[in-house]
Amino acid sequence: MSSGSDPITVLVVGSGGREHALALAIDQDPAVAAVHVAPGNPGTASFATNHRVDILDGTAVAALAAELGVDLVVIGPEAPLVAGVADAVRGRGIACFGPSAAAARLEGSKAFAKRVMADAGVPTARSRVATAPAQAAAALDEFGAPYVVKADGLAAGKGVVVTDDRRTALDHAAECGRVVIEEYLDGPEASLFVITDGTTAVPLPPAQDFKRVGDGDEGPNTGGMGSYTPLPWLPAGTVEQVMAEVVEPTLARMRTLGTPFAGLLYVGLALTEAGPRVVEFNARFGDPETEAILPRLRTGLGALLHAAATGALADRGAPEVSAEACVGVVLAARGYPGSPVKGCVIGLPPAPDGVHVIHAGTALDDRGRLVSAGGRVLVVVATGADIADARERAYAHIARIDFTDGFARSDIASQARLDAIAARLG
Ligand code: AMP
Ligand code: GLY
Repeated sequence: MSSGSDPITVLVVGSGGREHALALAIDQDPAVAAVHVAPGNPGTASFATNHRVDILDGTAVAALAAELGVDLVVIGPEAPLVAGVADAVRGRGIACFGPSAAAARLEGSKAFAKRVMADAGVPTARSRVATAPAQAAAALDEFGAPYVVKADGLAAGKGVVVTDDRRTALDHAAECGRVVIEEYLDGPEASLFVITDGTTAVPLPPAQDFKRVGDGDEGPNTGGMGSYTPLPWLPAGTVEQVMAEVVEPTLARMRTLGTPFAGLLYVGLALTEAGPRVVEFNARFGDPETEAILPRLRTGLGALLHAAATGALADRGAPEVSAEACVGVVLAARGYPGSPVKGCVIGLPPAPDGVHVIHAGTALDDRGRLVSAGGRVLVVVATGADIADARERAYAHIARIDFTDGFARSDIASQARLDAIAARLG
């Protein structure tokens, strides 16, 4: 275990854009000596050491961390958290940023999350758990259209159906077995990421992602097609209000249950006429919001996450954040979010200052060329004096990338989108 002044080494677990962004920000922290990533991707390989491991195998991840002698393990995705990988790492006496399996149920079970929110008095959509068709039908009729039906368990972004069609809602409920059916929340969405050691909690700047695949929010839901921060339309005081009305009571309830939540609490919010309402909790950094938020962080991320992982957050001030804006635009592969075309060779020109390219779904082919290997392939991230500036720089760099099968939304963080949100809020 390092003392406050010795540089630490960190193992980041995961292979997507979020993990690339986390590893990059951790690597830039002067308090960090070296970064390892497991399994990582060609982007992380350019500055960190990648290691092969089955990230769902807690014993294997803990053994790798012990072998590398790292001071901190940071777990990116939800599946290993829900599988108890953070418990396994801590079980070997290694500090880990990421909640226990018991606490990760805030993401792993929608029904559990709703119960915690109800017990803690957290503002969220009214809901019912349904396990049989008749129960589902009754709940749909209680709340009316638009219908919101959520699979109870982890579903990799495919568990939620929002529809005006009662048949579609019923079919989704039947397909999922156990579902949460809830009231529709009307209002723009925002993501608030909170770093916590279980007791002390500090927010990162709020961001927004674009979930639909097409311009104007048309087409199917995706893992996220872009993101930006800050949110100029967010009413002043919203972050403080959400910390007081959502985060503090939730963390207190989790402590009372004997399963304190330590790690990253992702609060997905809808800004409704009645005020902020929780749409969902996640137990990890969000993607692609993380890519846009971290470049604004002026506090070293490695030391910050180490403090959260060791119960020492109260000894540190709130993280410092630059006044700059940041925009991340996803380059996805043709066919996404259905069946993305893979194996397309990608040419990446050098990025100008203030612009960087995060790898989300890339690989090297047998000739060592960078190729597409996933649905979301790259995230082009740019900082700027304001959103318009950052956005222009991100799109200018996208135009220089050679990726025949790639596409991006053209309206990420556009003024028209921001104006539309502001108008909705009145
Ligand atoms: P979730 O996985 O719970 O975040 O849901 C995915 C997406 O479905 C959210 O980002 C929202 O766009 C939408 N959604 C979820 N719950 C609701 C709700 N109660 N009202 C309106 N939209 C919702
Ligand atoms: N940005 C959505 C998510 O990470 O779940």
